[in-house]
Amino acid sequence: MTESLFGQVEAFAGDPILSLNDSFKADPRSEKVNLSIGVYTDEKGRLPALGSVRAAYERVGFAERPYLPMDGHPGYREGVQKLVFGDKHPARAEKRIATIQTIGGTGAVGIAADFLAKHAPGRAVLVSDPTWENHHGLFQRAGFKTTTYPYWDAKNRSVDFDGMVKAIEAAAAGSIIVLQPVCHNPTGVDLDAKQQAALTDVLVAKRHIVVFDMAYQGFGTSLEEDASFVRRYAERASCLVANSFSKNFSLYGERVGGLSVVCRDADEAERVLGQLKLAVRRSYSSPPMTGGLLVATVLGSDDLRAQWAREVDEMRVRMDSVRKLLAEEIRKISNEIDVSFLTSQRGMFSYTGLTAQQVRAMRERDGVYLVESGRMCVAGLNEENAAKVAKSFVNASQA
Ligand code: LMR
Repeated sequence: MTESLFGQVEAFAGDPILSLNDSFKADPRSEKVNLSIGVYTDEKGRLPALGSVRAAYERVGFAERPYLPMDGHPGYREGVQKLVFGDKHPARAEKRIATIQTIGGTGAVGIAADFLAKHAPGRAVLVSDPTWENHHGLFQRAGFKTTTYPYWDAKNRSVDFDGMVKAIEAAAAGSIIVLQPVCHNPTGVDLDAKQQAALTDVLVAKRHIVVFDMAYQGFGTSLEEDASFVRRYAERASCLVANSFSKNFSLYGERVGGLSVVCRDADEAERVLGQLKLAVRRSYSSPPMTGGLLVATVLGSDDLRAQWAREVDEMRVRMDSVRKLLAEEIRKISNEIDVSFLTSQRGMFSYTGLTAQQVRAMRERDGVYLVESGRMCVAGLNEENAAKVAKSFVNASQA
């Protein structure tokens, strides 16, 4: 080799979530606990293989594997629409939703950003502060500048609703607003129904373009209830909805997600669908098949759909119960720490208020891994590790 072509390439600083997960895997300590990445594990610390998905696997078998269409498996797309919007949504009846199968929820947000870069270029993009870091990255990759609206009220450990509304009202008309409708990542706090309605009025009046990112449907209250913000919004205005089946199907590695664009009428939806297909073609041509078939089979069969809904309920109930368990374990050690946030927040994540330094101390001393923002994935807690995590948390909090 005479000359380096890539000598100027910068080192990748690592992803705050995925690289941490790699460090966890490389940690040789047997008592380590992974509360970093948003992955649901069962009471034994394993990724569940849902009975409904296993049954779908058997039904699907090994068949030919042609290319899927650019917009994905038709049964899958139908399943996404029914699950996200409900069977009877007026926008569905009027055939004005364009839906594609995507490579996970990340792929859905990525294609949404690409689509908007072409058809709504130059708009301001506002994401919550804090948010899932990749929201910034995906919109920036598409050429947008991103800014934030306030979301987290650290003092009350709740949503800074006034701050949020003020910032969204002050944004230029027609801005792109990324909202997480349920189980907000990383804070675990959501808008209540009244707040959703009030915010909807502002968003509609300002003609903002809303991108809902719904990665945890079913982990908040129920599959139906969790979609209510999106469904009500879509009755009032056009919007984009990214959804993910990674968590609620426990199919992380299959990269199963969806992107739906609610349009004004069927003709617009047809043209938007064409542009989404083009964005897919230019990016990865068409989505992969096996995960798509599994989800389409579960969502398309009454028996498997019902079984799956029960399995999602079980995951949610377990997460609620380990939230309580950790709060109790912490109270056993110390009465000085207010642990009410653990049970008032919901979904996979709790925002603990721990500093990056405290999080590092937990990781280095005890092998308990949280994201440095202080986000804890409660779905990694179980009866076996709760006492250890509580001890580590109290030590870090009081240091
Ligand atoms: C997370 O936030 O931990 C998950 O959504 C996984 C990811 O892709 O970051």
